[in-house]
Amino acid sequence: MKKKTNLQKRKEIYNKVLKKITPSKKDLEEEKEIFKEIKEKIENAKGSHSHVEWCGSSARGTHLKGDRDLDLFVMFDEKMKTKELESEGLRIGKMVFRGHKWEKAYSQHPYIRGVIKGFEVEIVPSYIVKDASKRKSAVDRTPFHNKYLLKKLTKKQKQDVRLLKQFLKGINAYGADLKNRSLPGYGVELLILKFGNFEKTLKSISKWGEETKIKFNSKKTTTTLEGTLIIVDPVDHNRNVASAVSEEQYQRIIFASNEFLRNPKIKFFFRKEKKPLKKTEVKKLFKQKEVILIKSSFPKKELEDIVWGQIRRLVKKITNHLNKNDFEVTNEKIYSEGNDLYFFFELSSTNIQKSKKLIGPKVIDEENTKKFLSNKKNIISGPRIEDSRIVLEVPRKYTNAIKLIKDFIKENKKIERKAVKSILKKSKILEEEDILDNYKGELKVVLSDYLRGKEIFE
Ligand code: CTP
Ligand code: MG
Repeated sequence: MKKKTNLQKRKEIYNKVLKKITPSKKDLEEEKEIFKEIKEKIENAKGSHSHVEWCGSSARGTHLKGDRDLDLFVMFDEKMKTKELESEGLRIGKMVFRGHKWEKAYSQHPYIRGVIKGFEVEIVPSYIVKDASKRKSAVDRTPFHNKYLLKKLTKKQKQDVRLLKQFLKGINAYGADLKNRSLPGYGVELLILKFGNFEKTLKSISKWGEETKIKFNSKKTTTTLEGTLIIVDPVDHNRNVASAVSEEQYQRIIFASNEFLRNPKIKFFFRKEKKPLKKTEVKKLFKQKEVILIKSSFPKKELEDIVWGQIRRLVKKITNHLNKNDFEVTNEKIYSEGNDLYFFFELSSTNIQKSKKLIGPKVIDEENTKKFLSNKKNIISGPRIEDSRIVLEVPRKYTNAIKLIKDFIKENKKIERKAVKSILKKSKILEEEDILDNYKGELKVVLSDYLRGKEIFE
């Protein structure tokens, strides 16, 4: 049998993936049905609204199978006062969900979202404006995205959008939320539009440099946008669609594109569950590394996006605190699995020297030498001269990183904001021995991933 070429392998993979991620005809009909029902209900209701527009990926056939989101926009005259738009939007939303589960949510304006027949439906109030740059709020752009893409994307390209969405999901780089810090769906659609198809997009990405800027209209230039990756919104030139993409995610997308093109595998799209490490393997690695784990749980009843920002800041704060106290942090990583949160810290050493050398001013600098020596307590050794400077050895405040983290948690529980407070209160510190004692279930999976330290597609 002849060996498959790289191109054949890729084609086979695309077909397999597409079979799994394309919604069925029945799925699509069901969506349309529900849309029609809601649209009629709203448009027949009394009120100052105009009409309903179906937006988001399901409206243009670029959503993934199983994604049951309906973003419905209720349109209002732009002369209407914001207050009235908001109250009317809420009133209509509540009317739509009578008898169903719903909640109030917030973007630029408060709106209602709920569940109807298994679909997550959002009822968003929006202004009718001439073009997106005349928007009165950020959501006013969305209907323009929809019109733009419906006009430009071909049927084939819609399938390529789905492929690219799934590829980015597979490598953990999809979504503009603060957890994922990557491309939103709309950005993926624009990439396919720009480069033509999935393959061409990956090939272009694989050649991206330090920074990349993508524009759709050469006449209009935008100078104010900044970022590693800039995708100028074709309907609003003042907006970077890729503004959420972090440096790390940008590099991840490039690396994964290169790796996939070199050696195509389906695992780029659907991650292969890796077998957790055996306990003996973990023990061996713990002899080569020093790992501390803080386990906690994700705060409930808080906006996920806000919590993610706070989590990242908390972990940075702990790392800085360790560094400031002379513990060298060589790696840190956050995992969230369901309700559980895991913060890993790796140090060059958990225990450090009990005494600390203080290097003072030059001896000939009499004034500062005097200041340096006054009110120094608990001197272990010195003063003496080293390289023309005055030197003292004093006890270190912390010689053990666990103790330092424990104190940090105790202190910060008092001052931190609600979400962080709850994370700290529920936190448990696990040293290597504790980790080994509890080496089962989810911890096994998370720890193995951490210790392997590989990209998910590797
Ligand atoms: N939108 C946007 N920028 C974002 C998020 C959303 O402009 N960061 C707008 C886009 O017009 C998008 C719509 O809001 O099409 C709906 O958002 P969302 O459901 O998050 O994305 P989808 O495009 O529907 O993609 P997905 O398939 O991931 O749902
Ligand atoms: Mg959507």
